[in-house]
Amino acid sequence: MIRTTAMAILFASSFIAHASDAPKVKADPAKGKVIAETVCIACHGADGNSAASANPHLAGQVEQYLYKQLKNFKAEEGKPAVRDNAIMGGMVAGLSDEDMKNLAAWFASQKAVPAKATDESKIEMGQKLWRQGDFKKGIPACAGCHGPSGAGLPAQYPKLAGQFPEYTEAQLKSFRLEERSNDPEKMMRMIAAKLSDVEIKAVSDYAAGLR
Ligand code: HEC
Ligand code: HEC
Repeated sequence: MIRTTAMAILFASSFIAHASDAPKVKADPAKGKVIAETVCIACHGADGNSAASANPHLAGQVEQYLYKQLKNFKAEEGKPAVRDNAIMGGMVAGLSDEDMKNLAAWFASQKAVPAKATDESKIEMGQKLWRQGDFKKGIPACAGCHGPSGAGLPAQYPKLAGQFPEYTEAQLKSFRLEERSNDPEKMMRMIAAKLSDVEIKAVSDYAAGLR
């Protein structure tokens, strides 16, 4: 008993020593802003409110999620990118780890322009999936991970409120086809596999209107 306790303490203290060795660079949104205003602006807007639905809104997105996506888009040491996208792969190729942290801090701190659900006929279906999921089909409530108001949950769960429904729909279909496979523990691939096209449309439209 005493031995195991001692070992646990040893283990814990070596972990703490190790963790404090890591370089602590505080993200600097002002530096992120400079890159946003010169590069990202073309597709996402300088403040992350994008004009075209192919380019997701980034304003107010969960900071750690943004950073993870930027890392995932980058092909490293001969290995293909974890999230394969030709456009974003090119965008992140020249970014350092620090740039990515700064960009994530910049876009996360920007104010998102709210959107609206547009398809009245599917709001009920979308709302039910969002709030309760579908027990019979084994679909969990989106709200459980993405938050009741779709604001996301640091650090893992992205905000979906106000996002273009076309983008959300495309990502769900991409998870379903396992073309997008950077979700930890296959969380989204397992859910998307159980969603029909109509359900995907309904929940994507519903999420857009959340605030
Ligand atoms: C030429 C257009 C273009 C430019 C410029 C661009 N992006 Fe993107 N970005 C896209 C597209 C398209 C996607 C969606 C990719 C997909 O469908 O998976 C995307 C996706 C993203 C995502 C993932 C968002 C999410 O919700 O998962 C992040 C983060 C991102 N871009 C950040 C940036 C940053 C930071 C810059 C500037 C350094 C930048 N982008 C420049 C087109 C662009
Ligand atoms: C068990 C937790 C969990 C549940 C439940 C869940 N999600 Fe997710 N979702 C995640 C995680 C984690 C990610 C981030 C994956 C990554 O790191 O790229 C994600 C990402 C997404 C994305 C990509 C967002 C973007 O900006 O690219 C969409 C779209 C999405 N989820 C929709 C849904 C919908 C719709 C539901 C309900 C039917 C749902 N999720 C339920 C965990 C969950």
